[in-house]
Amino acid sequence: MPTDHLVITLDGPAGAGKSTVAKSLAGRLGITYLDTGAMYRALTLKALRLKMDLSDEEALTTLCRNTKITFKEMPDGSLSILLDGEDVSTAIRAPEVTNNTFYIAKTPGVRTLMVAWQRAMGQDRSIVTDGRDQGTVVFTDARYKFYVDCDVEERVQRRFKELVAAGKPVNLDQLRADMKDRDQKDFTRAVGPLKKAPDAITVDSTGLTVEGTVDKIMKLIHL
Ligand code: DC
Repeated sequence: MPTDHLVITLDGPAGAGKSTVAKSLAGRLGITYLDTGAMYRALTLKALRLKMDLSDEEALTTLCRNTKITFKEMPDGSLSILLDGEDVSTAIRAPEVTNNTFYIAKTPGVRTLMVAWQRAMGQDRSIVTDGRDQGTVVFTDARYKFYVDCDVEERVQRRFKELVAAGKPVNLDQLRADMKDRDQKDFTRAVGPLKKAPDAITVDSTGLTVEGTVDKIMKLIHL
């Protein structure tokens, strides 16, 4: 592996702004951004479309084995996610997908395959990868590991503003309950739960903008 091969992991709870921060960080460093949450979402979308029983872990693992999830760089520099060749970048953000991804994420056989695909993507290229288990399971040897945290109320408010701006109907209490429920599921999953790697640096994004958070991380990276 060349010495300039760089892996930076960003783990943390939903809504902490990890994806936007990771994307911006990768852009500033001129390296690839890997959105691992998008991979779990894409498989969820496929299972929902097939009206599968989401509690059937064996069937979900077989589905995963027979699925091709890839990323494609678009002319504007953004990355699209392809599910068996179809661009599903927008479809995977639907609330129905968000609320059902935990079934896929807690299936051990699915995680084993996802972890292998993620490692393969980071093997021969420098990446900024974001998710829940990137520093603890997938890239344990990453040169830099960050745990991006944020106060739960601020995460709820950010999501609220995003939905309002997008003209989507939104109930603040429901949003708060959903966020707490997702945290609970992420923290308590038997495989690949969200936790801070012992060698990760915590970056608290509470009260910070995306670029403010990226600035904070950039100051901690010495290339
Ligand atoms: O980061 P996100 O909200 O797009 O993640 C979607 C779901 O996938 C969320 O329920 C947590 C799960 N996930 C995971 O279990 N492991 C990862 N590496 C990334 C996401």
